[in-house]
Amino acid sequence: MKRLVSLIEGDGIGPEIAAATVKAVEAAGAQVEWERVDAGMGAVERHKDPLPQATIDSLKKTQLALKGPLATPSGGGYRSVNVTLRQQFDMYANVRPVRTIPGVPCRYTNVDLVIVRENTEDLYAGVEHYVDPRRTAAESIAIITKFGSERCIVYAFEYARKHGRKKITLVHKANILKMSNGLFLDTGREVAKRYPDIEFDDMIVDATAMKLVIAPERFDMIVTMNLFGDILSDLTAGLVGGLGVAPAANIADGGCAMFEAVHGTANDIAGRGIANPTGLMLSAAMMLDHIDQRDAAERLRKGIFAALANAETRTGDLGGKTNTAGYTDAVIRSMR
Ligand SMILES: NC(=O)c1ccc[n+]([C@@H]2O[C@H](COP(=O)([O-])OP(=O)(O)OC[C@H]3O[C@@H](n4cnc5c(N)ncnc54)[C@H](O)[C@@H]3O)[C@@H](O)[C@H]2O)c1
Repeated sequence: MKRLVSLIEGDGIGPEIAAATVKAVEAAGAQVEWERVDAGMGAVERHKDPLPQATIDSLKKTQLALKGPLATPSGGGYRSVNVTLRQQFDMYANVRPVRTIPGVPCRYTNVDLVIVRENTEDLYAGVEHYVDPRRTAAESIAIITKFGSERCIVYAFEYARKHGRKKITLVHKANILKMSNGLFLDTGREVAKRYPDIEFDDMIVDATAMKLVIAPERFDMIVTMNLFGDILSDLTAGLVGGLGVAPAANIADGGCAMFEAVHGTANDIAGRGIANPTGLMLSAAMMLDHIDQRDAAERLRKGIFAALANAETRTGDLGGKTNTAGYTDAVIRSMR
């Protein structure tokens, strides 16, 4: 039986990479059926709502989404739909694997790490206000709870066991943010005692940024809070070729999950047919693993890695010579 998936194409390059991904997923033989729903600035234009009720209802029903990037204007305007979706469905663990891909030009040859980012708390909890009526000062409050920290850190340890990972580094700034980040760190130390088979250490975020650039191969898994996870996962994407190739999964307890590329709407290249759909395609492969369609996931990855290995069939952001459509055709040809 086909599994129903809520498909949110998203803004900017979203519709282009979503079309490419749907084509590749279907060619891989995945047993999925798409329920197309709206979110983001496109949804504002069409429904006057960045997150229409129909989209929420679809995700409640399917418990599974593949999502393109959504625009979030800086400063005023709508609250991030990405953050709202993650919080509303309590998708507290954001999993971002980063791996060197043979043939893709980058500075390193042996990066293979996974970032697990807490997805619902921290400075993204949405608690902020102006201090005075003239708006000359503002406060954003980082919420860190033991409950939120523990379930995310436990998820990271369970992930490590399931995927044969050996070491977790908890990243924080507890030397300065002694209470909020201290709570995350203390919780991590407590949880680590329950997993003696997994090595555990911690690192301050600024030093982590430096060490990731100097010796990324020393990292196996990172678990961290929302803001640091957001920043470090773009940094690590840059270690393996850029945002175009970085996938992600948002996971809740009880099965609800949403898969999306790490990158944003890439407005500078939207509508030109040159975007790299790899991040969303690899996210779709993670989705197929999640719903136990492993053969289709493997076929999809085989096609992606073969197409990426050749400059003739890579997109321009990776120094290649083709566009979104040419790359997608190459992915599909390479699956056979
Ligand atoms: N999950 C999400 O939906 C998500 C994530 C990040 C940013 N955003 C939103 O996206 C918008 C733009 O953000 P930004 O410009 O900071 O980041 P961005 O990721 O959209 O773009 C950064 C740079 O990377 C390039 N790039 C990104 N994805 C690419 C791809 N698939 N192929 C080729 N090049 C690619 C872009 O052209 C740009 O030069 C903002 O509104 C932001 O809030 C959404």
